[in-house]
Amino acid sequence: MKIAVVGATGLVGSKMLKVMAERNIRPEELLAVASERSVGKFIQSDFGKLQIISMEEAVSRTPGIAIFSAGGSTSKAWAEKFAARGTFVIDNSSAWRLYDHVPLVVPEINGNTITPETKIIANPNCSTIQMVLALAPLHHAFGIKRLVVSTYQSVTGSGMKGMVQLENEMKGLEGEKAYPHPIHLNVIPHGGEFNADCYTSEEQKLIDETRKILGDQNIQVTATVVRVPVFGGHSESVNIEFENEFDINEVKRLLDEMPGLIVRDDPSKNSYPMPLDAEDRDEVFVGRIRRDFSQPKSLNLWVVSDNLRKGAATNAVQIAAYLIQNKLV
Ligand code: A2P
Repeated sequence: MKIAVVGATGLVGSKMLKVMAERNIRPEELLAVASERSVGKFIQSDFGKLQIISMEEAVSRTPGIAIFSAGGSTSKAWAEKFAARGTFVIDNSSAWRLYDHVPLVVPEINGNTITPETKIIANPNCSTIQMVLALAPLHHAFGIKRLVVSTYQSVTGSGMKGMVQLENEMKGLEGEKAYPHPIHLNVIPHGGEFNADCYTSEEQKLIDETRKILGDQNIQVTATVVRVPVFGGHSESVNIEFENEFDINEVKRLLDEMPGLIVRDDPSKNSYPMPLDAEDRDEVFVGRIRRDFSQPKSLNLWVVSDNLRKGAATNAVQIAAYLIQNKLV
């Protein structure tokens, strides 16, 4: 069994290697792939020292699985070349997510949308993954009519560049910028590119991907994506209007039983999810669970997760594990 990690020098790629080792996914051959700039260099990983190879070489070595986290244009240019040789591509970019023939997978929710014929599998957007993990059992039980989401997203979601900008600004240093404004001691209501309706591409992802993963195009979603000077993970305020009436204890029970989700909700002890606690954890944390008294059948949640883990690397590695366990590869 051969696995390629494309983008192995990046924030998500290096986390993928870590998560693979933690979950004891130890391929006979591990191919570390990055841009031409890095070919021939070595990286340190839990699998020891790995030498970076080129995309061409990785394709020609026909891995069983290639996990991509090297940006949308790399995925667009290369995923089909791997797929044509029989490699399963698990792609962390947004390049393939909305194609009908490409499953968009959170294994706890819709792993069964992967078939032996599937060759490209999309890993959803980080903010979407953590939100739908909390929403899926509630949608199943009560039917979600409408969502109002505001995110508080970590700089690590912008790759090395985002992290380095915040680190530099904290030390008063100049350097490369991921954002059009300072992020230290600031909050930037802007993620991705603006469209003609003044929404951003990151907001649109939350709308489109939530509907696709929950398998319901009728769910209405409105989103505001915000970047905050935080390293540990993404937080989200989620307001949900259901089709049907719910019982708050039943909501808590359903969330408690959802695999991969941890309820942290005890106002008497000031206990609620925060990125400082979620950092380097594979789970999604949910708290501040309370009825919205301003209108019927409505609920508020606060959802936090390490976007590099469940929002990216962990989810992708779980998909790889699913392929292996189900003998698809
Ligand atoms: P490199 O380090 O050679 O630039 P991050 O999101 O943390 O910045 O990481 C991006 C990852 O994607 C890096 O591993 C980077 O490699 C890789 N990458 C960027 N462009 C390409 C490309 N054209 N082909 C392959 N890998 C790429």
